Amino acid sequence: MKVLIVYCSSHGTTTKAALLLKKQIKGDVIVLNLNKAKLHSDVDLFDAVIIGGSIHTGSIQGRVKKFVKENLSVLRTKRIGLFLCCMREGQIALEQFENAFPIELRKQATATGIFGGEFLVSQMNFFEKQLVKRVGGVTTDTSRIDEEAIGEFADVFNTKQNVTLCTTQSPYLVTEEMRL
Ligand SMILES: Cc1cc2nc3c(=O)[nH]c(=O)nc-3n(C[C@H](O)[C@H](O)[C@H](O)COP(=O)(O)O)c2cc1C
Repeated sequence: MKVLIVYCSSHGTTTKAALLLKKQIKGDVIVLNLNKAKLHSDVDLFDAVIIGGSIHTGSIQGRVKKFVKENLSVLRTKRIGLFLCCMREGQIALEQFENAFPIELRKQATATGIFGGEFLVSQMNFFEKQLVKRVGGVTTDTSRIDEEAIGEFADVFNTKQNVTLCTTQSPYLVTEEMRL
């Protein structure tokens, strides 16, 4: 199976998550950071597409949204995985996830995951530092990448057909009711 992992990362945390995922996804896996490169081949050449990004002030990167919008018709025909890196947990993380990806892809996805994140203060610009200090009281590098959720996502993606939200923060199966 040919698998494309396509994502955006601002400070590198989603890159770490995408590479951890790559190691665990079965098949011929290509990883593409939309901040650094464009996809030169056709999405249709892949059997499966995993799309990821991170949340900054409530939203996923515009390039991830653009990729989804531009390829929606072909994505509808693929095995899909969706994941998010963010520092919020629980219900807010779930709402951010729901805002990040269109409902039809969420419903279609074989696996969806919220993988935690990192505050890499040492890499932030002045405004980002001010923001995370004011909102979260964070002044030093903090890492909460959820490797267990990444492993669970990979297991589900490799083997199952149903939609499971992989996060150890609040593990539950996404039901039809919750997705509507
Ligand atoms: C300026 C800024 C704003 C952020 N806003 C949010 C937010 O609204 N919600 C959230 O859950 N996490 C937020 N985060 C945390 C990021 O999602 C987290 O740092 C993530 O690991 C970033 O991944 P990346 O380095 O791949 O972009 C924010 C981080 C920064 C630096």
